[in-house]
Amino acid sequence: MGFFSKDIKSLDDLFVHTLQDIYYAEKQIEKSLPDMISKATNPQLKQGFEKHMEETKGHIQRVEQVFQMHGVPAKAVNCPAIDGIIEEADEVAGDVDDKQVLDAALIAAAQAVEHYEITRYGTLIEWAKQLGRDDCASVLKQNLEEEKATDKKLTVLAESKVNLQAAQ
Ligand SMILES: [Fe+2]
Ligand SMILES: [Fe+2]
Repeated sequence: MGFFSKDIKSLDDLFVHTLQDIYYAEKQIEKSLPDMISKATNPQLKQGFEKHMEETKGHIQRVEQVFQMHGVPAKAVNCPAIDGIIEEADEVAGDVDDKQVLDAALIAAAQAVEHYEITRYGTLIEWAKQLGRDDCASVLKQNLEEEKATDKKLTVLAESKVNLQAAQ
């Protein structure tokens, strides 16, 4: 955003800006997932991350589709929030010695990422509807549903196995 002129003047501008934000976030997540996959020990967790890696590639494509539908170029803007979440995850993971405890840390980090995505997509969907773009909203909703499903699976895995093993 410039100092002399403010770039976001309308809800439409804000929608596009937030779409650029989640576009950046999804790309950063795509870059960080291989590391999460390689660090995970629990086979279900590893598989879950692998599956979400594929889904994330789809999320990027859907966001690109929404840019196109909305008639603006696909562009990413820096998102310090997701950078911070990923950076903190790396730091904590680097400090954990025990493999089971590391799995618990990876789940916690992944859920922070999912919750960030969930909040962004929730907002984008509502704004798209407000802007009369139900078509864009329904594409974004597909991403939201996959983020929510991933978050739920991580909760189940943590509560049923990983946290118990980490506590032993
Ligand atoms: Fe995503
Ligand atoms: Fe996600």
